[in-house]
Parts: sequence; structure tokens; C-alpha cells
Amino acid sequence: MESIYGAHRQELEETRDYLLEEIQKIREDMAKKTGGEDPVEHFLARIKSEESMREKCRRKGLPENEHSALEEIHDAVGIRIVCSFLSDVYTIRDGLAGLPACEVVEEKDYIRHAKPNGYRSYHLILKVERGPQPVYAEIQLRTISQDTWAALEHHMKYKKAMSGDDALISAELKRCADELASTDLSMQTIRDMIYQDKKETTDENTAG
Ligand code: GTP
Ligand code: MG
Repeated sequence: MESIYGAHRQELEETRDYLLEEIQKIREDMAKKTGGEDPVEHFLARIKSEESMREKCRRKGLPENEHSALEEIHDAVGIRIVCSFLSDVYTIRDGLAGLPACEVVEEKDYIRHAKPNGYRSYHLILKVERGPQPVYAEIQLRTISQDTWAALEHHMKYKKAMSGDDALISAELKRCADELASTDLSMQTIRDMIYQDKKETTDENTAG
């Protein structure tokens, strides 16, 4: 069967690589400003598989063709960036939104506005224009805690057949998400205190 991406697979890969390079620059820039602290714990990048893209077209009632895959569905390219701290999520978001080749076409702040199940992450859809074919990319930014929770929740969704009280499991997962969110805030406060200390020490050493 012909690829749903037609002859555009290479552009998808180039867009993914371009974004990864830009993320690397943003990351190095941030590390420089904080005396070497890397804001990114880990990241993942993928081109949505043929199968998942076709399945998503069907789910959305779209024809399984190039137009749907490249223009209607906006996550053919997907990047997940897992950050150490909440503030890093927003700094990287600003860096990506400011790229000249990129336009933010959709944004969901599930951190400030968590989903009812407790899911938290910052989602950004970028339209990347570096050639005749614009390419959309979905960027998910989240903290380590948020990533841990999402992984567990994703896992549970596919283990639904397990016996057990669904309502209780959902409520417990939600409680965990809220506790993790509270811990993320505390960790951010501690980080800010440490950074403030460091900054004062550096200022003292460089003054006179
Ligand atoms: P589609 O683009 O149609 O999939 O839906 P949408 O645009 O409403 O989705 P949204 O932007 O909310 O989420 C897109 C992606 O975020 C999903 O494919 C998941 O990777 C992730 N995500 C969103 N909600 C959840 C959630 O409740 N749990 C987990 N584990 N991941 C989620
Ligand atoms: Mg979406």
C-alpha cells in the first residue's frame, strides 16, 4: 500500500530534526544562564506510524489520504519534552513559539487547567514552514512527575479488563496527579531558593 504521507515523509523527518536542533539550542542557552543546569530530563520524537495515522483518520471520519495526514491531523510529527521543573516547561514553550519558521496554531495548557482525570502537560501545535509543504508538529511539554503519571494512566487504560473498581481507580489516579502537582510546586520553590543562593554567591564573587 502507498504511504499515507505520499512523497512527504522526508519533509516530516526534516521537520522533526529541525525542531530537535532548535530544542537543543534552547536547552544549551538555558543551561548557560543557570550555570550548567540542563532543563531537559529526557525527550522523545516520532513520526506517527502509517497504522496509527490511518486509524486516527478513521476515528475522525477523515479519508485516509495525504491531505488528512498532513493538513487535517496535526501530529504526524510528535515531540515530547520532559523537563525537570515547571518553569522550564514555560521557558521552552516561549523559545519554540519564538522560532521564525514556526507559528503556534493551537495551544492547550493542561498544567494550569488540568484535565478532569488529572492529566497535566502543555501542548503546542506548531506549523513549521521551511519549504513548499508546511508541516505540523505536536509538542508535549511536561515535568518528570507529570510524565510518570501519564505513563501509568496510559498503561491503566489498556489494562481496563483487569477486575477492579473503575471509579475507585480513577479517583485514586486523580488524587496522585494532584499530589504530584503539589510536589512539583514545592520542588520549583526549592529550586528557586537554591538558584537565588547561587546567584547571590556569584554576584558577591564578581562584585569588586
Ligand atoms: P486527538 O488529537 O484527536 O488525539 O485529540 P485532542 O486534540 O483532543 O487531544 P489532546 O491535545 O488533548 O491530546 C493529545 C495527546 O496528549 C494524546 O495523544 C496523548 O499523548 C496525550 N494525552 C491527552 N490526554 C491524556 C490523558 O488523559 N492521559 C494520557 N496518558 N495522555 C493524554
Ligand atoms: Mg490533538
